[in-house]
Parts: sequence; structure tokens; C-alpha cells
Amino acid sequence: MEKNAKIVIIGAGIFGLSTAYQLASEGHRNIVVLDRHMPPVPDGSSSDISRVVRFDYADEDYLGLAYEAYVKWRDDAKYQGIFERARYILVGKTSPYGQDWITKTTSALTKKNLPWTKLKDAAAARKEFPVLSGELATPGFFGYHNQQAGWADAAKAVTQLRDDCFELGVSLIAGRSGTVIDFETDSQKSIKAALTLDGNRVAGDHFILSTGAWTSGLVPMYNSVLSTGHVIGYVKLTPEEIRKYKNLPIYANFSTGWFNFPPHRDTGMLKMAIHGWGYTRTPRQEDITAIQSNISSPPLIPPRERRNFVPQDGETRLREGLREILPELADRPFDKLALCWYTDTPSGNFIMDYHPDYANLFVGGAGSGHAFKFLPVLGKYMSLALKKNLPEQLAEKWRFRKEYASQTDTFLGDGSRGGPARRELDTEEKAKL
Ligand SMILES: Cc1cc2nc3c(=O)[nH]c(=O)nc-3n(C[C@H](O)[C@H](O)[C@H](O)COP(=O)(O)OP(=O)(O)OC[C@H]3O[C@@H](n4cnc5c(N)ncnc54)[C@H](O)[C@@H]3O)c2cc1C
Ligand SMILES: *[C@@H]1O[C@H](CO)[C@@H](O)[C@H](O)[C@H]1NC(C)=O
Ligand SMILES: *[C@@H]1O[C@H](CO)[C@@H](O)[C@H](O)[C@H]1NC(C)=O
Repeated sequence: MEKNAKIVIIGAGIFGLSTAYQLASEGHRNIVVLDRHMPPVPDGSSSDISRVVRFDYADEDYLGLAYEAYVKWRDDAKYQGIFERARYILVGKTSPYGQDWITKTTSALTKKNLPWTKLKDAAAARKEFPVLSGELATPGFFGYHNQQAGWADAAKAVTQLRDDCFELGVSLIAGRSGTVIDFETDSQKSIKAALTLDGNRVAGDHFILSTGAWTSGLVPMYNSVLSTGHVIGYVKLTPEEIRKYKNLPIYANFSTGWFNFPPHRDTGMLKMAIHGWGYTRTPRQEDITAIQSNISSPPLIPPRERRNFVPQDGETRLREGLREILPELADRPFDKLALCWYTDTPSGNFIMDYHPDYANLFVGGAGSGHAFKFLPVLGKYMSLALKKNLPEQLAEKWRFRKEYASQTDTFLGDGSRGGPARRELDTEEKAKL
């Protein structure tokens, strides 16, 4: 790739910004990033007060990459004040489902010589983590903990990454002039320009699409991604409670998908979420305006912040999870509730590959609810993929797949999801987003 070639990156989440930063560091001088909103984008998947950073993966490739990223979060001075260490407990019922993920993950850790500690039963877990006052399990506890994990303040990390991009000369267009609704192509199926909501035309030589959950509205994705909404809840703590729960571990129940974060000091929030199957949102007729798509996606016009809403069944599940570990807080009203969007692939693998329909369009994303932790290394792999230099195994893992196009029931996940089946939001619920 020519250093002076114009590179247009669409989407300023972690995929887009880390790529812009990496390419600029490699000497590319003509990079513009487009987004619906200035990053951190309020309803983008990369924005929130926190994201879990762990390297506990059953898959050895992700384990290796996540460990590489973890070491950077922990040791690189630039993540001080953004990353905090915390212990991570993974539990599930002694049913084949929860057990399977845990057994595979601990064997993968052992194989890499990374330590972990089995928790014999709920009593052993409470002894190790006295702050956990709840039952922790209806009969059948299966779990372990890892000393090496933590969480990152996502909004701070994205703000820093954005500013690092600016420092290296990357430009950004946000708002209606940065909201892409179509592409202008030539007869060779090469993209000449991205066309935006206000009639702006952004010409370029290379285009990188990192539009997260909105992607299937812009180009055909051949049933290889599905955008699903996932619930998050925030409970406000008093200053005394922030101190009391300071050493709260990250507790993830793989049977329900429920997990929490230690208190977030800046906001005083105790945050929890559910890594489950989520909700789909097929656009309503009145939403299908700028982008002609009827595939599940978040609304295109950005709100100033995520709407304070989750479906009732999601709220109930958030509360039940809190009761499992901290019953004393389980009846406190949520200060805020929100849906955040995953871009799921059938396998949980990311996509980093050229789009089959265009000569110069590269697709990077499909985080499948677990990409944030890779932020420190993501740009490096995006750049390798863009230049077709990925190790063969990763290239195969992250290739663009057309083979799901005619398959129904593709989205069965990577074995990491708990809780009830995915469902479509109803009309009333959609109106609240
Ligand atoms: C509730 C929740 C919890 C999560 N927890 C974790 C966790 O604990 N640990 C972890 O590692 N990962 C976690 N993830 C996953 C991780 O956050 C995502 O995989 C990652 O942030 C996806 O980044 P992205 O750049 O693909 O998407 P985004 O950040 O959404 O970026 C896409 C961008 O494209 C822009 N865009 C879209 N359409 C257009 C258009 N037409 N024109 C211009 N711009 C456009 C959007 O505005 C957006 O800013 C979580 C995700 C969610 C939702
Ligand atoms: C996890 O969730 C399941 C399903 O609700 C529950 O039965 C179990 O007690 C929870 N805790 C553990 C440690 O499995
Ligand atoms: C959605 O689009 C697909 C083709 O892309 C079409 O087959 C289907 O009927 C559409 N569904 C609705 C509800 O419009």
C-alpha cells in the first residue's frame, strides 16, 4: 500500500481507530475516519465506563492474543488510570453446559503455563472472596479464579486512542457529513467514494468498513453477522460502599451470562451486564430511510447517550445475578439501564478480510461481544490482514464467509453464552430505543 494513498476508515470504534493509529504509525499519511458521532460514540459498542480485560479463552489463538493485550494493559504507562487489575471468577453450574466452557478454558490456560485456581464449592469461593455475601449457587457450583485480569475504562481508552490518532495526523469527520449511507463504485466494482447523509462525497483509494452493529445495513454481509442488543445495569453506590466493594472480583456466571465489574470510582457505579443471546431489532418501516436494510441493527441517528431502557425480562435477569453475589444490593433501583450492541458471527470469530463484492473494501469487526480487551493489539492485526500478511491460521479464522448465506439458524454462538434464547424486541420495546 502506497504511503500517500487515501485511506477512508468508516467507523470510529476500537476497530476503526486502532487501525487508523496503526496505519499512521506505519507512515501512512492520508487517513480519514468517518463516524456518525465524535468518538467515544455514545451508542457505539466501544463506549462505556468499563469493559472486562481477561485472557481466559478456550480457543488458543484468542488466549494468546488476549494475553499479549493484557500485558500491554498492565505494563504500558499509557494505560495507567485507564486499566485496573481485578481478580476474575468464572463459575457455572455442574451441568454439561457451564462446565464445558470452564473445562476447556482451564486446560488452555494450563497448556500455556498460565496459573489459575480451582474453587471447590461456593463456601470455598466465599472464603477466598469474603466480600461475596450471596449464595453464589443453587446446588452445583463449578468454578475457578484467575488473579490476572482486570477492566478498562472504555470511554477513557477510546478518547486516548482518538487523540493519539489526531497527533499522528489522522483526520476525522463526525456527524451527518461522516454518516455513510452508500458507496460510489466504478465498473470494476472498485469503490471511488463514500456518500454521506448530508450529500458529502468522501473519495479514497482504500476503504475500511468498521461500522460494528450497523455494518449489514451498508453492504451485503451474507448472513455472516447478526446485531444483537445486550442489557447493562448500573447501581449507584455511596462513598462508603465504594470502599466496601473496592476489591470486588469480576464474577461471571457462564450459565446465565451475568457478570459484574468492581465499583467505578469516577461515577460511583456498580455495573453489571449479561453475556447472553440478546435481542434483535429488525428496523421498523419508518426507520428504513437513509439505509435500505431490514436486518437487525441499532437506530442510525445517534442519541446523545444510550436510552435508559432494557426489556423487563432483561432487568429481572440483571437483578437475579446481583442477588447471587450481593443480595444486600439486589432490591436497590437501577440508576441506569441500557442496551449495547454486539455484532455476532456464528463462531464468535472476528472478521478481518476484503469484502467479496468490492476490490478495495476491507471489513474489520464483528467483535461478537468480546473484542474490547484486544484494543492494544487490534490495530496491529488489522494492518497485517489489510496487507494480507496475517499468519495463515488467523487469516482462516477471520476470513469473510459467504457460506452462511443460505443457512438458517446459523447463530448458535461460541459456547460462551448463557441464559434464555435470543428474541426479537417487540414494537413497544423498539419505540423506547
Ligand atoms: C454490553 C457490552 C459489553 C461488552 N463487554 C465486553 C467486555 O467486557 N470485554 C470485551 O473485550 N469486549 C466487550 N464487549 C465487546 C466490545 O465492546 C466490542 O466487540 C467492540 O467495542 C466493537 O467495536 P467496533 O469498533 O466493531 O464497534 P463500535 O464501537 O460500535 O464502532 C462502530 C462505529 O461505526 C459507526 N458507524 C456505524 N454506521 C455508520 C455509518 N453508516 N457511517 C458512519 N459511521 C458509522 C458507529 O457510530 C460506531 O462508532 C462488550 C460489548 C457490549 C455491547
Ligand atoms: C449460575 O446460574 C445458574 C442458572 O441460573 C444458577 O443455577 C447457579 O446457581 C448460578 N451460580 C453458579 C455458581 O452456578
Ligand atoms: C428482508 O429482506 C430480505 C432480502 O434481503 C427479504 O427476503 C425479506 O422478505 C425482507 N423482509 C421483510 C420483512 O421485509
